[in-house]
Amino acid sequence: MKKIAVFASGSGSNFQAIVDAIDQGELAAKVELLVCDKPNAYVVERAQKAGVDVLTFQAKEFSSKEAYEREIAEKLAEKEIEWIVLAGFMRLIGTVLLTKYQNRIINIHPSLLPAFPGKDAIGQAIDYGVKIFGVTVHYVDEGMDTGAIISQQVFECEDEMTRDAIEEQIHKIEHQLYPSTLQMLFTAGAKDPSLQQK
Ligand code: GAR
Repeated sequence: MKKIAVFASGSGSNFQAIVDAIDQGELAAKVELLVCDKPNAYVVERAQKAGVDVLTFQAKEFSSKEAYEREIAEKLAEKEIEWIVLAGFMRLIGTVLLTKYQNRIINIHPSLLPAFPGKDAIGQAIDYGVKIFGVTVHYVDEGMDTGAIISQQVFECEDEMTRDAIEEQIHKIEHQLYPSTLQMLFTAGAKDPSLQQK
């Protein structure tokens, strides 16, 4: 049973999917902590309902990324967190956490990386006019959505699909792909991402 911390900034539908997969016995993990940089985000309410401890912070109240990551790292150590799972956490992870959790920080991104990294990946893909959309789960490194890829799932966009419909389909894929990929990682053990091709 892996002890995990989920980091999120928004509505937290992926946080919920992880909690639900654990409840349904599909993911052998325990969410020990939610770390959130937006104290009013809906994910905080979800965590409270699920009985998960919450650590909120505001980056602007700290002198640097190192300063707030040191505080987060202390809390993670106190709770003996083994893996960090980013679920819509809209900040780059810095050296403090990357060093302590080498190859044990995972992210989900709503595009087929390396296409459309960064913010509003779905909007970027729509503006580009792509026909194939998808989701990527990957290891986190110091870059923006650049770590080694663990799993991907595609879907083909029908011509008449609205942005809402595309987003809904992406979320549906994410809510399956993230828990199942985490389960695969936790049961198979972490592979060294430097051995994988980018
Ligand atoms: C998800 O679509 C996730 O892939 C994306 O934020 C959304 C969060 O939704 N993450 C990124 O874009 C990271 N670069 P949620 O709050 O409902 O889980």
